[in-house]
Amino acid sequence: MKFFVDTAEIEPIRELAATGLLDGVTTNPSLIAKSGRDFMEVTREICGIVDGPVSAEVVALDHATMMKEAEVLRKIADNVCIKVPLTVDGLKTCKALTSDGTMVNVTLCFSANQALLAAKAGASFISPFVGRHDDNGFDGMDLIEDIRLIYDNYNFATEILVASVRHTTHVLQAAKIGADVMTAPPKVIHDLFKHVLTDKGIEGFMADWAKTGQSIL
Ligand code: G3P
Repeated sequence: MKFFVDTAEIEPIRELAATGLLDGVTTNPSLIAKSGRDFMEVTREICGIVDGPVSAEVVALDHATMMKEAEVLRKIADNVCIKVPLTVDGLKTCKALTSDGTMVNVTLCFSANQALLAAKAGASFISPFVGRHDDNGFDGMDLIEDIRLIYDNYNFATEILVASVRHTTHVLQAAKIGADVMTAPPKVIHDLFKHVLTDKGIEGFMADWAKTGQSIL
């Protein structure tokens, strides 16, 4: 499963990229606002840190203007992935862009039927929001299971990008279902490394090693 980080903050991206485990970045207008940075400038900077896809979202709601915005965004770097909302105009834009070889991430997906439409529109990625689905009394992971089943039934190449990930259990469930990608805030990715028994084990080994009086270097 590929790991994307869901942030527009440069330092956490650099830190995760340095682990060699980061496959891409997702941003959205709320994350850009939170960063306080200029959209174009910060997107260009992120694209220079990671080799994988960097999602940059259009903000227009009509197809014609989305296409114009996408034209500007895709010039930022070769690894820009244009993010469009799951609306009629968004999917029209997705179809036009992917037919032209541009990567597209269709966002704000909350139903398997919406995911089916996105795949038919040639989306490179579909982003079902599991956390927001859970918040509204549904099971976000049921949605991922349904999309996996449908995409496998028809051999759609669209990658399932599990988004709105709130905790490590979401990551585990997504991996068990066979989602292609997950995007999570930096903290959730860092939490994946942690286990109390790992910390305790290191503590014990270090204490015993100190008793030997030896050193490797
Ligand atoms: O990738 C989508 C994500 O940014 C939304 O997450 O936590 O705002 O629902 P959240």
